[in-house]
Amino acid sequence: MKFFLDTANIEEIKKAVSWGLVDGVTTNPTLMAKEGRDFKAMVQEISAIVEGPISVEAIGPESEKLVSEAREYSRLSKNIVIKIPMTKDGIKAVRILSKEGVKTNVTLVFSPNQALIAAKAGATYVSPFIGRLDDIGQDGMQVVRDIIAIFRNYGFKTQVIVASIRHPMHVVEAGKTGADIATIPFNVLEKMFSHALTDAGIKKFNEDWIKVQKHGK
Ligand code: G3P
Repeated sequence: MKFFLDTANIEEIKKAVSWGLVDGVTTNPTLMAKEGRDFKAMVQEISAIVEGPISVEAIGPESEKLVSEAREYSRLSKNIVIKIPMTKDGIKAVRILSKEGVKTNVTLVFSPNQALIAAKAGATYVSPFIGRLDDIGQDGMQVVRDIIAIFRNYGFKTQVIVASIRHPMHVVEAGKTGADIATIPFNVLEKMFSHALTDAGIKKFNEDWIKVQKHGK
């Protein structure tokens, strides 16, 4: 299971890279806006730190505009993946880009049929947004399960990125579905390390180690 980091924050990316846990990065306009910096400078800085795929979003909305943005951004670094919105124009753009060898990540996917259409167009990745589905009372993870079942039935090569992850249990559930990738916000990644019993165990072992050292004196 690959871990992508769902952020455009350089400090977060550097920390998670130092833990060896960044197989790739996903960004979107909202994450970029939070940083308040020049877009291309951010993309280049991220690609200097991360070897794996880095998703950068094209806006379009027309297919021609999506394609020209995608061509421009993919020149920024060899590991750029273009996020394309799940629209008719988006799918037209994915088909063109896939023939050119430009990697795409169809984003804002909320149903198995949307993922199926993206896979048929040749998308490299699809990103079902599970948290946003859960927010409106739908079962986000069921959409992921359905997408994976459909892709397996037909041997689609398109990889599934579980996106819009909100808490550590989303990562556990994503792993159980067999999804290729979870794109994880930094705060969720940090929480995945923690357990109260680990903290209590370390405290006790440290206290007892002091006792052991005293015996040696
Ligand atoms: O990368 C896109 C996705 O993960 C966004 O998540 O929390 O804005 O629904 P969220």
